[in-house]
Amino acid sequence: MSHAFVHELVDHASERFRAGGRFAYHYARGKLGYDTIFHDILRRGLLSGAPRVLDLGSGQGSLFSWLLAAQQLAARGRWPADWAPPPTPRALRGIELMDKDVDRAAQAFGATHPVVRIERGDMTRTELGRPDAITILDALHYVDHQRQSELLARIRAALPAGGVFLTRIGDASAGWRYQMGLNIDRVVTFARGHRLSRLYARPLAEWRAELESLGFEVDSRDMSGNKPLANVMLYCRVR
Ligand SMILES: C[S@@+](CC[C@H](N)C(=O)[O-])C[C@H]1O[C@@H](n2cnc3c(N)ncnc32)[C@H](O)[C@@H]1O
Repeated sequence: MSHAFVHELVDHASERFRAGGRFAYHYARGKLGYDTIFHDILRRGLLSGAPRVLDLGSGQGSLFSWLLAAQQLAARGRWPADWAPPPTPRALRGIELMDKDVDRAAQAFGATHPVVRIERGDMTRTELGRPDAITILDALHYVDHQRQSELLARIRAALPAGGVFLTRIGDASAGWRYQMGLNIDRVVTFARGHRLSRLYARPLAEWRAELESLGFEVDSRDMSGNKPLANVMLYCRVR
């Protein structure tokens, strides 16, 4: 069931991006189909107890389409018995720096979607509000170390007890595997129509220590799939 169900989810979640053109559609299909963090989020219910999600560096909103597709299929009785309960998103807010991605999101979700709002903004400056969960998937390394630390502290302050911060970082202590991830990141960034900027890495132990000192319980998992990369998911819960 699981394999066929993932296909169904990918079809369902990618469909809305057709409105944004070929790139938007195929990017969503590739990302949702092959990036294991999206599968893990549903299988393990990492955002299931979080109706209000804030996604920083949201890109075109692939994560939100994924959560909505899961909710819709589950409402039709389609949900694998061995997965955690499905997500129940009620307010999904994305913050994205690049106009191109915000435009793709607007075409995919429309201007008046009842659940999804993707705004153009800088995550290091934007008001975070009071979400149940905050996600940053592959975007933290675009801002310098000082702004990373300031943002992490604001994220902690914005979340309630039990709130979730879910992120994925590259582990800078992983040598050539980390470099390989950076190179892929640069190619994808360029393909998405963005100029290349400096990236700010840290070793996994440093990410962990900082998050723990802020009051998070941190569970880290390798998210490189079968690729020789150093992508690590950090699932952080406010103690
Ligand atoms: C590698 S992409 C990942 C996009 C999305 N999270 C996903 O998983 O498909 C990183 C995104 O972070 C955005 N970004 C970088 N710095 C940002 C900032 N300061 N504020 C908001 N978005 C930012 C980039 O424009 C880009 O869309």
